[in-house]
Amino acid sequence: MPPHPPPPLPLGPDGYPAPGGVARRTTGTAESRRANRRWWDAAAPAYLAEHGPDLGDVDFLWCPEGLRESEAHLLGDVRGRRVLEVGCGSAPCARWLHRAGAEVVALDLSAGMLARAAGLNRSTGVPVPLVQADVGALPVADAAFDLACSAFGGLPFVADVRAALAEVARVLRPGGRFVASVNHPFRWPFPDSPDPRDLRVESSYFDRRPYVETDDEGTAVYVEHHRTVGDWVRAVVGAGLVLEDLVEPEWTPGRTQEWGQWSPGRGALVPGTLVLVAGRRT
Ligand SMILES: C[S@@+](CC[C@H](N)C(=O)[O-])C[C@H]1O[C@@H](n2cnc3c(N)ncnc32)[C@H](O)[C@@H]1O
Repeated sequence: MPPHPPPPLPLGPDGYPAPGGVARRTTGTAESRRANRRWWDAAAPAYLAEHGPDLGDVDFLWCPEGLRESEAHLLGDVRGRRVLEVGCGSAPCARWLHRAGAEVVALDLSAGMLARAAGLNRSTGVPVPLVQADVGALPVADAAFDLACSAFGGLPFVADVRAALAEVARVLRPGGRFVASVNHPFRWPFPDSPDPRDLRVESSYFDRRPYVETDDEGTAVYVEHHRTVGDWVRAVVGAGLVLEDLVEPEWTPGRTQEWGQWSPGRGALVPGTLVLVAGRRT
């Protein structure tokens, strides 16, 4: 922890941090963590004002395509299971798991997001323990959980995803399961637009340099890392997990809710989310 935390990021008219610039450049573990913690602290109110109604307060939405755990059952029967949610944000998934009978712990890097989670714990009366930590260094004993899950939490933002997945594998008991939704790598080369007419390649799918937003001095204030499908498979397997499935959810018929570049128009044509389903070796 730095002795003096950096000041909060200035916000734009939409309530999100307003970047001074955008770059594609290498960023390491510490820089990615520092930037994203600050960004999510500052963005929490705007993010939850925009997406909170769709996420729900006690609900498990895997992705903007509209897949919910209540229909997908990717985690199996959670009753009586010890579950760790990684990158929980305001923790609606963890509260849904609690209500479904799991013994759940919700973890996130951002104090701003966890403050919202604590508020929703109180207003819903569904209390889930909240922990502030980085997915790359889990303050959890080996084999402490039966299941771990993440809905776009943490993994797209870390520089060393194999190390983060190895941490998740460490805290799962043998035979445990990890399910995580992440940005589908296919999205990376296209403009960040919901309009299907903007589906034209503007950068290389194979360019792994992260997307970095900076302040006016060039300090990273938001970092998102890209991995190809093969990179994800190698990271999962390299972390000691067994990959069981790669789910590519299709757009839910009749769903009109847009999330950034996820839209019904694009969703009818191309995937937006990849769900990794992996097990810890027995
Ligand atoms: C897109 S939100 C997903 C949260 C929630 N599942 C949702 O759908 O709103 C991403 C979350 O990942 C968290 N995050 C980013 N980097 C992280 C890291 N290194 N470790 C743990 N959480 C992280 C952010 O603070 C943020 O709450």
